[in-house]
Amino acid sequence: MTIAKKIEEVMSRSSWIRKMFETGARLKAEHGAENVFDFSLGNPNVPPPEDFYRVLRETVATEPPGAHAYMPNTGYPQVCEAIAGYMSTEQQVTLSGQEIIMTCGAAGALNAILKAVLDPGDEVLTPVPCFVEYGFYAGNHGGVLKTAETNPDFSLNLEALAAAVTAKTKVVLINSPNNPTGQIYSAESLKALGALLQEKSAQLGRTLYLVSDEPYRKIVYDGAVVPSIFGCYENSLIATSYSKDLSIPGERLGFIAVNPAAEFKTSLLGGMALANRILGYVNAPALMQRVVSRLQGISVDIALYARKRQLLCEGLEAAGYDFIKPPGAFYLFPKSPVPDDVEFVKALQEELILAVPGSGFMGPGYFRLAFCVDDDTIVNAMPAFKKVMAKFK
Ligand SMILES: Cc1ncc(COP(=O)(O)O)c(C=O)c1O
Repeated sequence: MTIAKKIEEVMSRSSWIRKMFETGARLKAEHGAENVFDFSLGNPNVPPPEDFYRVLRETVATEPPGAHAYMPNTGYPQVCEAIAGYMSTEQQVTLSGQEIIMTCGAAGALNAILKAVLDPGDEVLTPVPCFVEYGFYAGNHGGVLKTAETNPDFSLNLEALAAAVTAKTKVVLINSPNNPTGQIYSAESLKALGALLQEKSAQLGRTLYLVSDEPYRKIVYDGAVVPSIFGCYENSLIATSYSKDLSIPGERLGFIAVNPAAEFKTSLLGGMALANRILGYVNAPALMQRVVSRLQGISVDIALYARKRQLLCEGLEAAGYDFIKPPGAFYLFPKSPVPDDVEFVKALQEELILAVPGSGFMGPGYFRLAFCVDDDTIVNAMPAFKKVMAKFK
């Protein structure tokens, strides 16, 4: 049996992720899952809010006609309207339901966007470190992922982005709050990015899209605010989901919001609706659309993540680790004490700590800790974190 060369190549590029999974599973089998400190996965571990369960039960108890039938590829019109209402307040720009497309998670949203806008060889430019799947998503649709460095605190580096825009750039893809760094891009830097894209679009005679991947928007700390991109650049889109803020990633529910001021909005929306269909999603899950439309603005208890972040930051600081305190998301991205982050992650594994090397996020020299874990895991891992650091100091 043979499979496509492209998929074989993708499999080999992502094989270290699989190896990490396998190592983690082996360590858990050998030592007992409770003795392994697993910080490797961004799988939310706080429960969905009570309101989610209440609305889910109420929704299941009602059976409007056609509750399980096909629907418009963009989703139920009344759900899109409810989301547009909430987004209008969030983004400070009035949106209508027409500008919302319900998708299978943020991943489905990104794939529908890229499918609709990329021609073969077009470039998707992203600041790094970045979410590990971006390269695969661009490749799914004939695109190529290009990267630009961020500043040492992982904020946007406008000069690096400007230098990386080419005649083939079609999309600039940002993610704030960021996975893996937790950084939030400031309003000033987003305004400057908008101005840069305006200038480059005019220079190149080509529409450049700004896509903001925002599934962590509601997971922020110390009063941090995630600025709106719609006010910064007209040809902008938001891809997001309820995976992280309602703790329901398995339900695959997200959406695309298009800036009402976008040029060619009608063909863009039509293209993405078609993409949603022909990628095989057809439409986002029906029951969950009905549920989330009644949960606008609701999220998990962020104080639970704030506590985990505090425990992890205090513990690692005392152990001599170097990192920025993440203003959002549930990841910490500390510096590896040696340049080879894979070597350091292996040393952590020897002490039964599972982390992901920064190289996997195009951020070599760092490693990622997902702190969506039990408080006890964080507290109990500290002696091991100290021991490993002591080996390298
Ligand atoms: C930055 C980022 N974008 C997109 C996704 C995909 O989210 P979803 O599960 O909603 O498809 C993730 C998931 O971890 C993520 O971290």
